[in-house]
Formats: sequence, C-alpha cells, structure tokens
Amino acid sequence: MGYEFILSEVDGAVGLVTLNRPKVLNALSPALMAEVTDALGHMERDEAVRAVVITGGSRVFAAGADIADMAERSSVDQLLRDQTGRWAGVTSLTKPLLAAVNGYALGGGCELALMCDLIIAGDTARFGQPEINLGIIAGAGGTQRWPRTAGKYLAMEVNLLGGQLTAQRAYQLGLVNRVVPAEVTIEVARRLARTIAGKPPLAARMIKESVNQSLETPLQQGLAVERRNFYFLFATEDQKEGMRAFLEKRRGTFRGR
Ligand code: CAA
Repeated sequence: MGYEFILSEVDGAVGLVTLNRPKVLNALSPALMAEVTDALGHMERDEAVRAVVITGGSRVFAAGADIADMAERSSVDQLLRDQTGRWAGVTSLTKPLLAAVNGYALGGGCELALMCDLIIAGDTARFGQPEINLGIIAGAGGTQRWPRTAGKYLAMEVNLLGGQLTAQRAYQLGLVNRVVPAEVTIEVARRLARTIAGKPPLAARMIKESVNQSLETPLQQGLAVERRNFYFLFATEDQKEGMRAFLEKRRGTFRGR
C-alpha cells in the first residue's frame, strides 16, 4: 500500500504500521492520521491479520500533534475538522493493538500509545503530555486515559507539569508492559503480537472488548458484558477445537470461526 507518511506491512498474521515523518519526529498531521486509520481499517478487514503493532521506528514514536499545522487554527477550524476525533479509527480496531515505543511519545504520540492494548517500551522511551506548554490541553485522551491507567495524581502531574516520564518510571507505574533495549523494541512487540495471533481470534476480540468495557461501566454492567461474551464463545468452532485439543493433548488450531 503506497502511503506518504507511514509504512504499512503485513507479515503472516501480524500487521505493522510505522509512523514515518522522521524529520519532524513523526508529528501527527491530519494526513498522517488519515493514513494510520486507513491502514488499520485494511488490517481490521483482512481476516488473515490477527494482531497489529504500531511504532514510530527505532528513534522516536511521535512528538505529538503537528504544531505547525495547528498554530494558526481557530476553534471553529478545529471543531469542523474534528482533529482528534479522527483517532476513532484507532480505538475502533477490534484486534489487539500493540505499541512499540522508542524515544519520544509526547502529546498526541503519548495518547496514541495509550489507545493501544499493550505498550512495549524501549529504554529510550519518554512519555508525556506537554500540551500545557503550548497553551492547550491534551485532546486525544491525555486527561482521561492517564487517570484511568495511573490514577489522578500522576495524571495531574503529567498534564500540569508537562514533563516527561522515563520508560522505567512508566513501567513502575503500570503504564507499559515491558521495557527492553531500544534495538529490540519492535521485534519484541512483533513477537508478542505473533503469540497473540496464534490464539483464538474471537476470544482475543472478546477479551479486548470486555477489558475496555471495564473502564467505561460500573462493575455489574461490565460483568454482564463479560458473561455475554463468555457464553457467546461457546457458539464458536474455536471453543470446541480449544477444549477438544486440550482433552486430546494436542495443540489447537484456531480459525476464528
Ligand atoms: N509538531 C511539529 N513539528 C515538530 C513537533 C511537533 N509536535 N515536534 C518536533 N517537531 C519538529 C521540530 O520543529 C523540528 O523541526 P525543524 O528541524 O524543521 O526545526 C524537528 O521536529 C526536530 O525537533 P527539535 O529540533 O525540537 O528536536 P529536539 O530533539 O531538540 O527536541 C522535543 C525534541 C523535546 C520532542 C521537541 O521537538 C518538542 O518539544 N516537540 C514538541 C512536543 C509537543 O509539544 N507535543 C505536543 C503537541 S500538541 C498535541 O499533541 C495535542 C494533542 O493532544 C493531540
């Protein structure tokens, strides 16, 4: 697929989207965002893809929304083009999405990582919401996903001070799943994605939906969603295959049916 600001490839059952505007540290322009959501849309529809990794490459994840693009915009411009609403194309992906983060993940870049299901950080990763330094606030989840992930006080610190957290601190706070040497971040994320891709995809989809529901609903409602998804999976071939394979002491083969 020929994109200008990203690279998109599928290797077996794993999709890889690489942000690719290195000269401006992968600043997230509307055109780049449109390409990301387009590529993810293709991967969503491609049944062969079972997990997706998004990365900015070896040096930087993304230094945020494109400041040059926003600097002279009015509120009405921003509202009409719904700049950050475009990220719905990321959060609507039903397949597991892993972020492989090296270097800066700031502003919209950090928010993009927080939209993912797992975050693998290279030891060079730096997370932060510096929008306050520009006279704005985070607009793609930075004031909402931080408190849900790391609590109110850390969310306030990150957003009010506009500083950066190291990969190690982010790990201690439960924001990232693994910290690895930067040279292997993408490979580790791809490996984890391949492992997930080998599992029954409908179960993976129901896990993603159920866990995300836990952040949106009261407990009883979330439990009801989980139960419904649990019962639903008994209608799938993969459940029969998974349980028979266990009983027959062999490895299951899952078709996503
Ligand atoms: N938008 C546009 N261009 C950016 C950019 C951004 N977010 N971040 C970096 N760039 C550009 C720089 O302007 C520079 O371009 P030139 O070479 O043409 O001057 C190039 O990328 C390299 O950047 P620096 O020279 O600044 O690199 P550095 O290593 O000295 O500093 C940095 C790195 C600390 C990340 C610094 O670039 C920086 O602070 N960037 C802005 C971070 C930021 O404020 N992000 C939030 C944006 S708002 C947002 O994201 C809103 C939202 O919630 C959706």
